[in-house]
Amino acid sequence: MTHYHLAVLGGDGIGPEVTNEAVRVLQAIGARYGHTFATQTALVGQAAIDQEGTALSDATLALCAQSDAILFGAVGGATAQLTGGAKPEDAILGLRKALELFANLRPVTVMPALIDATAFKPERLHGVDLVVVRELTGGLYFGRPSEIRAEAEGTVAIDTMLYTEAEIERVVRFACTLARQRRRKVTSVDKANVLSCSRLWRQVAERVAQEFPDVALHHMLVDSCAMALIRQPADFDVIVTENMFGDILTDEASMLAGSLGLLPSASLGTRTTAHGRFGLYEPIHGSAPDIAGLGQANPLAAILSAALLLRHSLGLPDEATAIEAAVAATVAEGVRTPDIATPTSTVVTTHAMGDAVLARIADSLPSPR
Ligand code: IPM
Ligand code: MN
Repeated sequence: MTHYHLAVLGGDGIGPEVTNEAVRVLQAIGARYGHTFATQTALVGQAAIDQEGTALSDATLALCAQSDAILFGAVGGATAQLTGGAKPEDAILGLRKALELFANLRPVTVMPALIDATAFKPERLHGVDLVVVRELTGGLYFGRPSEIRAEAEGTVAIDTMLYTEAEIERVVRFACTLARQRRRKVTSVDKANVLSCSRLWRQVAERVAQEFPDVALHHMLVDSCAMALIRQPADFDVIVTENMFGDILTDEASMLAGSLGLLPSASLGTRTTAHGRFGLYEPIHGSAPDIAGLGQANPLAAILSAALLLRHSLGLPDEATAIEAAVAATVAEGVRTPDIATPTSTVVTTHAMGDAVLARIADSLPSPR
């Protein structure tokens, strides 16, 4: 029996509710396949600011660094904070930066049973299978200066978009390597007609692509990509882009799947553990304070993030596939949280959705080894 150590950070709002369902699913998989997942929980975000005075304490960061992988919920309050000082978002930004998790994988697939729950005509969604590789530790999120200050002409605000060649190189290389396991097509998304960072991005992407003669590289401007994602989403294979463009495009892309509550993510760097690549796994959605505690949140993005954790960080691809199959079977039977409900489906709570996935796992797998 192999022991794995997971740091579990539920965070704020719906974060703890959805993470709880993901942990239950992991424990069921562990029991079924003979693994133990030892989980250690810690506070992050507003919850940690309230209790510990900081969004991400040194102890929590150390706990994460020593784990095999991190399961993360969501952080953030009801309104974006306009003043300086500790922000709940510092927790996730601090983890990404401190742990050098520069590549954020956001796969987008369409479950056939959910096509009716989307805003799209069915034929448009046929064959959609893409993954966005979002650069996660550079760009506007981390460039300094970043502040609001008083100037002679009045109050001004400044953010800085900064990329080094090396930062662009490693994430583009990551995307090209990933494309080799897929349809060998990479779309690099930028705003090279306006931004210096994007012009460097394009140059470096071209250079890196020469190492991958078997991978086709295309460039697309971000505004045009936002449109193409709706018009011909099936044309995309791997999209690689800078931090903020990736943030925006993936919320958009979640509509192809049917809901923001469906998209998982894996944040990876170069560090490996005894089991695989070290990483942080989180749904792409936020803390949704408006529905926190109501049992309405969709836990599937968190559960699918746990599947990515098994695949990428623990080297357990069969177990990951078992979770994904259980999720697909659950929605195929019409079990839905409100965000993906249709007139004929059965609307259930967050916890009942977790139960439904657990039941499919119990049904579908062979007896324990
Ligand atoms: C995401 C979120 C975060 C981001 C926020 C909470 C800082 O929107 O993971 O997409 O912008 O990266
Ligand atoms: Mn986002």
